[in-house]
Amino acid sequence: MAANKDSVKVAVRVRPFNKREKDASSRCIISMNSNTTTIYDPRNPQNRKTFTFDYAYWSHSDFIKSKDGMLVPGEPNSRYADQRKVYQDLGQGILENSWQGYNATLLAYGQTGSGKSYSMIGNTVNQGIIPAICEELFKEIRENRDSNRQHQVSFSMLEIYNEQVVDLLSKSKAPGGLKVREDQQRGFYVEGLKSVPCESYGQIERLMEQGTRARTTASTNMNACSSRSHMVITIQLKQICTKENLTKQSNINLVDLAGSERQRSSGSEGDRLKEGTAVNLSLTTLGNVISSLAEVAVGKKSVHIPYRDSVLTKLLQSALGGNSRTVMIATLSPADICYEETLSTLRYAERTKKIQNQAVINESPSERLVKELKAENSKLLLKLSRLGQDGRRAEDETQGLRQLLSQNELQIQAIQALWQQHLEEARRDWEQQYADVTQERRMMQSFPYILNINEDPQLSGVVKHFIQEGEWELGLSDRASNVITVKGLGILDRHATFTNMNGKVAINPCGEAKVIVNGAPLLKGTELQHLDRIILGSNSTYLYIGFPSERRDEDWGRLDYDFFQSELAVAEGFDMDKLGDTSSKNGKANPSVLAVFHDYIKVMPMVTEANQMSQELNKGMEFKLEVKNLAMCDSKGHDLEKEITVKVTHKETKQVWVWSKAKFINRKFLMEELYQRHMEEDTMCVDREKDPFWDPVDCVHLGSAHVWLQSLAFCIKLEEQVEFLNSEGSEEAILQIHLVPCTATGEVLGEDDILIDPTELLGRRFDFQIHIIQGFGVKWLKEITDRGVQIGYSVYNHSHIFYTKCVWNHMNPTLEHKTQFAILSVSQDFLNYLQTNALVIDLWGLQAGCIEMASSMEDVTVTEEGSVIIDDLRTSVFCSTMETNGNHLPELYTQLTKLEQETELLRAINESLRKENACLKKQLKNTSTKENSESESKGGNHHRISSSASQPSLLPKRTDSRGSFRRGCDAEFAKALKVFYQSMSSVRRQLQLLRCHRPSEEDDLHGLQLFTEEQTKMLKGFGEQLELCISTLKQDVAAIVKRKRERSGIW
Ligand SMILES: Nc1ncnc2c1ncn2[C@@H]1O[C@H](COP(=O)(O)OP(=O)(O)OP(=O)(O)O)[C@@H](O)[C@H]1O
Ligand SMILES: [Mg+2]
Repeated sequence: MAANKDSVKVAVRVRPFNKREKDASSRCIISMNSNTTTIYDPRNPQNRKTFTFDYAYWSHSDFIKSKDGMLVPGEPNSRYADQRKVYQDLGQGILENSWQGYNATLLAYGQTGSGKSYSMIGNTVNQGIIPAICEELFKEIRENRDSNRQHQVSFSMLEIYNEQVVDLLSKSKAPGGLKVREDQQRGFYVEGLKSVPCESYGQIERLMEQGTRARTTASTNMNACSSRSHMVITIQLKQICTKENLTKQSNINLVDLAGSERQRSSGSEGDRLKEGTAVNLSLTTLGNVISSLAEVAVGKKSVHIPYRDSVLTKLLQSALGGNSRTVMIATLSPADICYEETLSTLRYAERTKKIQNQAVINESPSERLVKELKAENSKLLLKLSRLGQDGRRAEDETQGLRQLLSQNELQIQAIQALWQQHLEEARRDWEQQYADVTQERRMMQSFPYILNINEDPQLSGVVKHFIQEGEWELGLSDRASNVITVKGLGILDRHATFTNMNGKVAINPCGEAKVIVNGAPLLKGTELQHLDRIILGSNSTYLYIGFPSERRDEDWGRLDYDFFQSELAVAEGFDMDKLGDTSSKNGKANPSVLAVFHDYIKVMPMVTEANQMSQELNKGMEFKLEVKNLAMCDSKGHDLEKEITVKVTHKETKQVWVWSKAKFINRKFLMEELYQRHMEEDTMCVDREKDPFWDPVDCVHLGSAHVWLQSLAFCIKLEEQVEFLNSEGSEEAILQIHLVPCTATGEVLGEDDILIDPTELLGRRFDFQIHIIQGFGVKWLKEITDRGVQIGYSVYNHSHIFYTKCVWNHMNPTLEHKTQFAILSVSQDFLNYLQTNALVIDLWGLQAGCIEMASSMEDVTVTEEGSVIIDDLRTSVFCSTMETNGNHLPELYTQLTKLEQETELLRAINESLRKENACLKKQLKNTSTKENSESESKGGNHHRISSSASQPSLLPKRTDSRGSFRRGCDAEFAKALKVFYQSMSSVRRQLQLLRCHRPSEEDDLHGLQLFTEEQTKMLKGFGEQLELCISTLKQDVAAIVKRKRERSGIW
């Protein structure tokens, strides 16, 4: 029935910039007006999309922080939506529904760090929706004056990670997690989940703390990040109206989902193991369920809703398309770098709002039982009275009925007593925990301690280990006394010792144990200072809080997880300056460099953990984080964005793989699964095909070389020696290559064919050969000789990749690869390509067992002479997206562009000379006509006849001399240009070298000094060569112009 249907309500909320975004001078790409939200494409602000939702919350700006840390609207009319506003709109509605007996669900969806947990849970001063609902719920219960109305509230908290359900309130952990079962009446439910009866908000607060602590420990023990798990809190509210004999029951599900980008960042890059991971299954299935339900809502029939495909969707079945009133809050990151992810969140929300639910008022099975029992009792009583009325004395029957009656009464009492008993137990637990918390608070005021710092701010500061006087051993072991038990990847049985003596605390690593303090690995004991950062094992991060006397009113918030990782990255030698241009023109930090730094610090701890797991599981793999410079693949050589890659090396065989960031993250999830299984079942066995550490041996991209094509536009042969530079900018090999303009039949064009004006090529056929001759000094073969190389390249917009043959075991491989290409009709686009692009040549490393590179020639059409046609209609359109990135050009590149502009100028001079030529020709013609007419008038008919007779012989001769004069001039120009373009090639090469010139990692101050001197020398050389280049051209042109003018007799 359509009348009963109600759509899922959707709200969006945009948070303030975080520190990282502020540092990067991020732009906000979201705007909100009433309930519409607009997102702008940062690359093209004209490209905007507007969405309408039930609510749009602007929490990005116009707020102030009050003294106690509360974020509130800056002024009375501020549009800032604070926590209270969000609660009033969303939380209160949920609570009202619940009072009426409807099930209610609130889902928070959004990218990691977008504010899901902040909206749902918040912090102590900025209370989120969940605590606000609970507080309000008990307030209303307290205020209830109706003695015939009883309330029962119970609370459960679970986490779904990797398709396993973990009860966050239970101390005992079932291996493999709790089971999800299905019941005809209840639908899907978690078997054995602890549901704690509560009588006050204080109890719920404590339970949430307990759950968060359990989440934190799980996250460190399983080395799994909380943002990859879903948290589901269920508050069950029962209202028993004794008078009306009516029971209403409502389940409020409050779901803080895993970061949405997990759905996309893993398994998306064609990884062989993409199907294997369960980490994202719930989130992916949720997306599928929502999409299917949206289709149903628009009238599509027979759509399968895949609820059963994941644990999360099973548990949310009633919330999505079922018996629940559901609200989703989609949280948005405001920064430009999050554009793709934020847009995808908005689209997700758009689909969700279409979902239709059918909520009904509920009765719980146990209450029904009471009702049924009571109904049965009434029947029995009626029967008894009838028996009496009938006057029949069936004693035994009456007795039987009385017995049944009293049994039923007992059952009713038992059910009610059980609730009281549960309440009593919960009360005792709560009191115990309350005592523990009070004790912890006291300890915090007396002793120094270490405080856990988690990637998820919600889980930071949850675990505290106190360092009381004396010596304390820290490690996995909990056997001895005076032990601080810490679990985590790479933590040893005995990991470190803490000593607290004479008002000082020192830490001392045990044996090989990994302890890092403030970014530096610790080799011996050191005294700790208040707020020192400690990393134990792979990535267990703690902040040291000194003695109470050392503490000030400082803000520890800035010492977050990112701070730890940035400090470590810098200490390990990650240098933003090495990534190139760190500041953009407006003096602000270059966002692309900051983005790569951010990526680096995000992936860095994962790499450390992968290495630790590889070691513990005896996989023999070593992972290393690298920054790949995309300029390597850019045919314009622009300094584009950088990218993180992970180089994987087998320690024994020295086989190498290069994984993209997404592939590595996917594999890391799978490694965690495997590692977890190993910990639980102590099994190392895994099918090689399913082993996340294993991949078939493949070719490795070693580096790229750029060969500038401009000389071809002038039909000038180019003979080059170019360097292959690897992703870090150092030389991998040298390549000898020729680019040869030729005729259709392959004859090499000579100097006479050199063009001054490349536009002469327009509309003509043009042939050229790429001749890859030999490589020199291939580093890939330096260490291990059982390796080979192969070279690949593609031309213009032709999709085909051409490969040379493979050459094995040779550091100086002879490749001798020659291919002729033909453009049947040169277009302006192709000409532009020649004039501004380089041929990007990729060097591939082959290793034992890998398949050599080859490409089918199906997409290649050849002329009858055998040239590959590259302007074939089937080829894809050349997409020049790189052009838009001109603003990243480094200064030197701009200089080069200037030079090219000057060439344009020279070309213009040439053009005007031509015009002058034409003018002279006309003058000459006029003069000759004048002469002729004069002689005509003087000499009469004879002359006219002889003149007209001599005309044909005279004019061709004249034109001939003009023609040869022009040709002579053009040839001189051509030569000058040839010299220019050849010297320009070497200038470009030098520029490339300069760009990649970086100090080596180990360089100390002296090394850096040498580097700077070298750099200065190189710059000077570059500048001189550039000057020489242009001045030679200017001189040559000036000489040609002068000669030409002399010859034409102007002066
Ligand atoms: N509306 C807001 N106002 C102020 N600060 C916010 C707001 N939303 C989020 N933040 C801050 O942004 C940071 C990240 O938020 P939060 O932890 O809620 O993200 P999340 O979406 O839960 O991420 P994850 O998927 O990793 O769990 C926190 O420090 C939080 O305090
Ligand atoms: Mg969160």
